[in-house]
Amino acid sequence: MKKQVDAAVETNSVLQGDYYQIVLAAPDLAATVQPGQFVHIRLPGFEHRVLRRPFSVCDADTETGTLTVVYKVVGEGTAHLARVVAGSQVNVLGPLGIGFSRPSIDSRPVIVAGGYGCAATYLLARISALPPVCLLGGRSAGDILLVDRFEALGCDVRVSTDDGSQGHRGRVTELLEPALAGEGPFGPVYACGPNPMLRAVSAIMLTRGEDAEVSLDHVMCCGVGACFACVVRLKADTHDGWKYVRTCLNGPVFKASDICWDT
Ligand SMILES: Cc1cc2nc3c(=O)[nH]c(=O)nc-3n(C[C@H](O)[C@H](O)[C@H](O)COP(=O)(O)OP(=O)(O)OC[C@H]3O[C@@H](n4cnc5c(N)ncnc54)[C@H](O)[C@@H]3O)c2cc1C
Ligand code: FES
Repeated sequence: MKKQVDAAVETNSVLQGDYYQIVLAAPDLAATVQPGQFVHIRLPGFEHRVLRRPFSVCDADTETGTLTVVYKVVGEGTAHLARVVAGSQVNVLGPLGIGFSRPSIDSRPVIVAGGYGCAATYLLARISALPPVCLLGGRSAGDILLVDRFEALGCDVRVSTDDGSQGHRGRVTELLEPALAGEGPFGPVYACGPNPMLRAVSAIMLTRGEDAEVSLDHVMCCGVGACFACVVRLKADTHDGWKYVRTCLNGPVFKASDICWDT
């Protein structure tokens, strides 16, 4: 059940480049959050901007009662978040949304992640019975996150960068078919990252006659289903063959086969 809490900032520091890691004391949220869910953070001293900012949960530790979020500074809000110092408080609403399904115990999950999606799928990898194959992609090496942490879990980590500065030169989706050609069984395939990457993962999996779970990155306002700013079209048994659903409430994770990718 979602809660709104004032969480003390334990640490907030650079992870690498423009990416930061913030650790928040939020025991109730840490105890209930599921992989793929997100929290909506209101920034202290940023009241002139009323909207919260959504961030996936990277990790949750029930022993220390902490939540970890990894974020990239892309605009005013995230730049402000990067200046929040340890010891201050941020207001956190969560856990929100519907996350990834629980990984199977008899097949190996495959994670396809881009940019902050690398961090947003870490908790999923950590709770998996079998260590996933993790395909991590980004524009350049600076966008490849948490390789050491995934490897410490026993994951088979394969990296791609658009500029070839780390791993395979090209799109992370180019690693998917070769990974699935390995010794399986594999599945489910989970994806989190920019929407063009999610679209490509979906196309590959649906062409194979299989499905995937994709975490849509959609601009959000309220985060709790009240404003309809985040709607996406899903296939439905309606006159038009589709219906709108709210990403914050019915997602952000959806089955690839349910999404109307043509819009
Ligand atoms: C469910 C969900 C989970 C997310 N998890 C994470 C996470 O774990 N780590 C992380 O770094 N970011 C995450 N994001 C994206 C994050 O919410 C945005 O980057 C942030 O809200 C931008 O705020 P800002 O004020 O800094 O930027 P703004 O000033 O609002 O925008 C600056 C630039 O960022 C772009 N932008 C704004 N929102 C988004 C968005 N949702 N996705 C992509 N670009 C955006 C704008 O188009 C603009 O170009 C997530 C988004 C969603 C919807
Ligand atoms: S962000 Fe308001 S309904 Fe989803």
